[in-house]
Amino acid sequence: MKDSYGRSITYLRLSVTELCNLRCRYCMPAEGVCKLRHDQLLTEEEMLTAVRAAASLGITKVRVTGGEPLTKPNILSICRGVARTEGIREVVITTNATLLAGLAAPLREAGVRRVNVSLDTLDPEKYARMTRLGRLDDALRGIQAALDAGFERVKMNAVLIGGFNDGEIPALAELTRKWPVDMRFIELMPMPGNQEFGPDNYIPVSRVLDALPDAVPEREDGVARLYRLPGAQGRIGLISPLSQRFCGECNRIRLTADGKLKPCLHSAEEISLKGLTEDGMRERMRLAILGKPECHGELSAERRSMAARNMNQIGG
Ligand code: GTP
Ligand code: 5AD
Ligand code: SF4
Repeated sequence: MKDSYGRSITYLRLSVTELCNLRCRYCMPAEGVCKLRHDQLLTEEEMLTAVRAAASLGITKVRVTGGEPLTKPNILSICRGVARTEGIREVVITTNATLLAGLAAPLREAGVRRVNVSLDTLDPEKYARMTRLGRLDDALRGIQAALDAGFERVKMNAVLIGGFNDGEIPALAELTRKWPVDMRFIELMPMPGNQEFGPDNYIPVSRVLDALPDAVPEREDGVARLYRLPGAQGRIGLISPLSQRFCGECNRIRLTADGKLKPCLHSAEEISLKGLTEDGMRERMRLAILGKPECHGELSAERRSMAARNMNQIGG
């Protein structure tokens, strides 16, 4: 259905857990998250009911996110259920890939069409520092498994952080020559729990183009503006929530693991679906879509997101 600004809302981001096996500094606090009680979380049945309600309102694409969705024990069954929902044409997933080596092929069989993977650095020591817990090798093995499993496309996400990985733009971009992947650079978003980052850490994605003078513009793809290096198999994407907001084309709503609908990533508004019937969920969803704000406020180191949660609790 259309929101009150004429945008067609066709994309649901479904966070299946807040928990993660990593603790990326831009995403969540060092101590992790207080585990929610079981009865606060949506059950698998409730998630699938919400997806049915969403499909009846015109949602055709569901992105399964987290936290880390692959830490969820019933992840395959959730993906299979979403893929079988009438009206859902595309099930996709975003993961840190560290658990993907054993799950890529089963996810593909469960009906997942595409995978987006977080990869901020190719330096094992920096990877361990930024994720606080992760091993780069695990992520690289997961990415290889995704490439072998026959997904329609694999995209990589690097959060661009001044003083951390801005010197690695050419090396990360080179992956598009080695593999048929899209490498997307994302501007760091100032969330409630990542205040350790200062003004120097927030850099615009235009720096990517400065570092890649050979990149040739291609079309847009969702929130990303695309470029290609000469002879590369995959593309370079720029995602610019700070320097060039894309609210005018926003087509998405979000559902958190504890059943809160978020009409906008950067607004504090949340609408609970927990415990409702399919009809009840549909009605709340309809109101959430109609109440979706036109745009979020400006974001910078000083002007932080109005979201009441961190990224791991929203799912990106
Ligand atoms: P595709 O389906 O492949 O287009 O995926 P996607 O880019 O929608 O999803 P992904 O999970 O890979 O997210 C990439 C980055 O874009 C993450 O940092 C998200 O937080 C960010 N992002 C996604 N949707 C929005 C949005 O509506 N607003 C803002 N500001 N950022 C978003
Ligand atoms: N700013 C930008 N992107 C972020 N992600 C997580 N936290 C942030 C942030 N503060 C990204 C992850 C993942 C995607 C879902 O969101 O890197 O790829
Ligand atoms: Fe986990 Fe992804 Fe957040 Fe990193 S960005 S802590 S991998 S949910």
